[in-house]
Amino acid sequence: MIWGCSPLTRYKLTSTLFDGVPSMPPAEQYCADYAAQVVAKTRAEAEGKSSAAGDAGKASSHNPYDEKKCDNCHDKTTESGLVVKSKNELCFVCHTGFVKGSFVHGPVAVGDCLVCHEPHNSPNPALLKVRPSEVCAACHHEKRQAASLHEKAASHGLICINCHDPHFGNVLFFLK
Ligand code: HEC
Ligand code: HEC
Ligand code: HEC
Ligand code: HEC
Ligand code: HEC
Repeated sequence: MIWGCSPLTRYKLTSTLFDGVPSMPPAEQYCADYAAQVVAKTRAEAEGKSSAAGDAGKASSHNPYDEKKCDNCHDKTTESGLVVKSKNELCFVCHTGFVKGSFVHGPVAVGDCLVCHEPHNSPNPALLKVRPSEVCAACHHEKRQAASLHEKAASHGLICINCHDPHFGNVLFFLK
């Protein structure tokens, strides 16, 4: 990676590019070009997704539910009705080794997958309970420290998961 092109720096440059202010010192020109490419790519992907399927995206269904493998998750003889003691352990039965990276998102770290996902099926992609653009707002009402960056991103039609991984990552704030 070129000096000054860490993901954080890249996004900070990104917000400068959004302003259209050509204030990059020459030494950072390469990084600026790189940032511009990242923005263009992210926006193209975001637009591609939304024009292909609308913000709602396509409906999704869970493979074991589709295949009627109800017993893989349900056991009538247990107190919870599930094959494991608690809901927070269920997803890891099959999604083993799911949690990776140096930074793990709070609800993922405690196995609270069902706060964002449905276990069976959903009108949204990736078994999400709500549309992808609405997932994060359920909890994150607090004021952003990087408020102007976030306002600019929102005004350009970017949604949280265009930049943040919802689960984990090797970069602070799980930046993609
Ligand atoms: C991947 C695991 C998984 C599979 C496979 C699965 N379920 Fe579930 N099911 C769950 C979980 C977890 C809940 C509890 C959801 C909650 O409380 O948020 C649940 C809840 C339910 C409920 C309670 C009502 C509801 O919908 O919340 C019924 C009834 C049910 N499942 C039936 C089935 C049947 C029938 C099948 C097979 C066709 C099936 N499930 C397959 C995980 C699964
Ligand atoms: C019985 C095994 C099993 C269990 C338990 C299980 N899954 Fe899955 N899940 C699968 C399989 C198989 C797939 C499809 C292949 C893949 O993507 O790995 C899948 C795919 C998914 C997907 C991607 C769906 C899509 O359309 O993109 C999500 C999201 C998901 N699971 C969430 C969960 C959550 C949340 C739980 C806990 C409630 C859970 N899974 C428990 C087997 C399981
Ligand atoms: C804060 C909300 C949130 C939580 C909590 C969460 N997810 Fe997700 N998950 C998402 C979103 C949003 C996507 C769609 C990502 C995308 O389209 O880029 C997703 C996608 C997925 C997928 C599809 C493939 C992938 O990796 O992107 C799987 C599998 C999955 N989640 C499993 C889980 C499991 C297992 C847990 C619990 C350990 C969990 N999720 C917890 C929001 C969440
Ligand atoms: C169920 C509630 C919930 C949802 C939904 C949720 N988060 Fe979080 N998020 C948390 C919690 C709890 C923390 C840990 C807060 C802390 O450590 O101060 C956190 C932390 C974070 C952090 C790290 C903040 C820091 O200062 O280290 C980021 C970034 C983040 N969430 C982004 C997202 C994104 C993006 C989404 C949507 C995909 C999302 N969150 C959805 C509860 C949630
Ligand atoms: C254009 C990419 C981008 C988008 C879109 C984006 N973020 Fe961020 N986010 C960042 C960057 C970069 C940082 C780190 C800022 C810094 O440290 O200067 C960050 C930091 C954060 C933090 C922790 C520090 C803070 O500033 O409060 C949280 C929590 C967070 N974002 C949540 C969200 C949520 C929720 C959404 C959707 C409403 C979202 N982000 C959309 C790039 C983005």
